[in-house]
Amino acid sequence: MWLPFRIVCLRSQTVCRRSFAAALLKCSRHKDNGNVTANVSLFSHSAGLAAQPCKALLFRKHGNPSQVVQLEGVDLPPMGAKDVLVKMLAAPINSSDINMIQGTYAILPDLPAVGGNEGVAQVIEVGCQVKSLKTGDWVIPKDAGLGTWRTEAVLAEDDVISLSNDIPLLSAATLGVNPCTAFRMLSDFEDLKPGDSVIQNAANSGVGQAVIQIAAARGINTINVVRDRPEFTQLSDRLKAMGGTHVIKEEALRRPEMKELFKTCPKPKLALNGVGGKSATELLRHLQFGGSMVTYGGMAKQPVTVPVSALIFKDVKVRGFWVTQWKRDHSSDGRAFRAMLDELCHLIQQGKLTAPVCTEVGLRDYNKALDTAMQPFTSAKQVLIM
Ligand SMILES: NC(=O)c1ccc[n+]([C@@H]2O[C@H](COP(=O)([O-])OP(=O)(O)OC[C@H]3O[C@@H](n4cnc5c(N)ncnc54)[C@H](OP(=O)(O)O)[C@@H]3O)[C@@H](O)[C@H]2O)c1
Repeated sequence: MWLPFRIVCLRSQTVCRRSFAAALLKCSRHKDNGNVTANVSLFSHSAGLAAQPCKALLFRKHGNPSQVVQLEGVDLPPMGAKDVLVKMLAAPINSSDINMIQGTYAILPDLPAVGGNEGVAQVIEVGCQVKSLKTGDWVIPKDAGLGTWRTEAVLAEDDVISLSNDIPLLSAATLGVNPCTAFRMLSDFEDLKPGDSVIQNAANSGVGQAVIQIAAARGINTINVVRDRPEFTQLSDRLKAMGGTHVIKEEALRRPEMKELFKTCPKPKLALNGVGGKSATELLRHLQFGGSMVTYGGMAKQPVTVPVSALIFKDVKVRGFWVTQWKRDHSSDGRAFRAMLDELCHLIQQGKLTAPVCTEVGLRDYNKALDTAMQPFTSAKQVLIM
């Protein structure tokens, strides 16, 4: 299937005339019909060149992540004038990373590919024409498809954006996708004012936890829906301690007690749906007249059904959001991305935005981390520490 933003793998004409014995490892981007397309390029080196070894989690075919992902030694290409050499510090395992390996995500790298789309790295060396970065800077990818599960990489200056390095490592490693998604969805769809309400499912997800905290910092109520579990009370307490106004079980959405809840806060202007199926339909039922439901994930793998009455009598708006598209749409003028990251870092520095609950796992234990990341009810993000 051809996809408009498919990540294509190109062999470098300059470097790859040499032997192809070793593997990938330079990432670059190019403009394709006005859209920025990430490209994972194959580079390799003949023995004796100044190639440096690093370790990377590669997949050579799509399939079950714990079966197709392998830790391999790979060579780094020499640095160009506009490149930076970075040491990866930490990188999470997100649902989209798993789906990319399974071959079911909207964008897929050509194979072999390094897994991981998010993470934080430290700049070790800069090329002579690099202007925006210096040694020691922390950087995160600007776009999906960079392949962050590796120890080092040579990257184009333009592929990364710097980040304040006085924030916790786990916050930096998990900043580029979920908090950015939460930030945009709370900013771009409804004019939310202090005192307004937002309802969301998958409230304990990485996105959900960021929604709770960013909304709380803006004085916005959140009604947080999670699946029932034996530790529901502990989870509810944790989400409330982050700033969640209400935490309820999926089943409660259909019960009369919702009327009681709406005596304490207004009906939501915005619903954020990361699940789909019945859960999304139930969120819709509670929206205000004219409110919006934004779908950003489909964890239940079920389509969204919109009741006719919600369209006719409530005129709800049914929208979607993909942070990768937002980043690509704003790549030519980096100011919006920069402003968002600065605001998110400021919230982190103020203690108003913390990383999701994380389990740190050494790169060598990647199989355990991949397996755990695919289990339900884990409530902790697996983060690879390089
Ligand atoms: N559109 C975008 O730009 C964008 C950006 C970021 C993330 N996403 C998507 O958002 C979703 C969440 O990502 P994340 O990194 O925040 O996830 P995460 O931290 O790994 O959490 C996964 C969440 O999904 C819930 N879940 C899993 N299976 C479910 C099911 N069958 N029914 C209901 N809930 C289920 C989990 O609840 P339990 O604890 O009950 O298992 C948990 O709340 C993913 O689909 C991801 O691809 C989209």
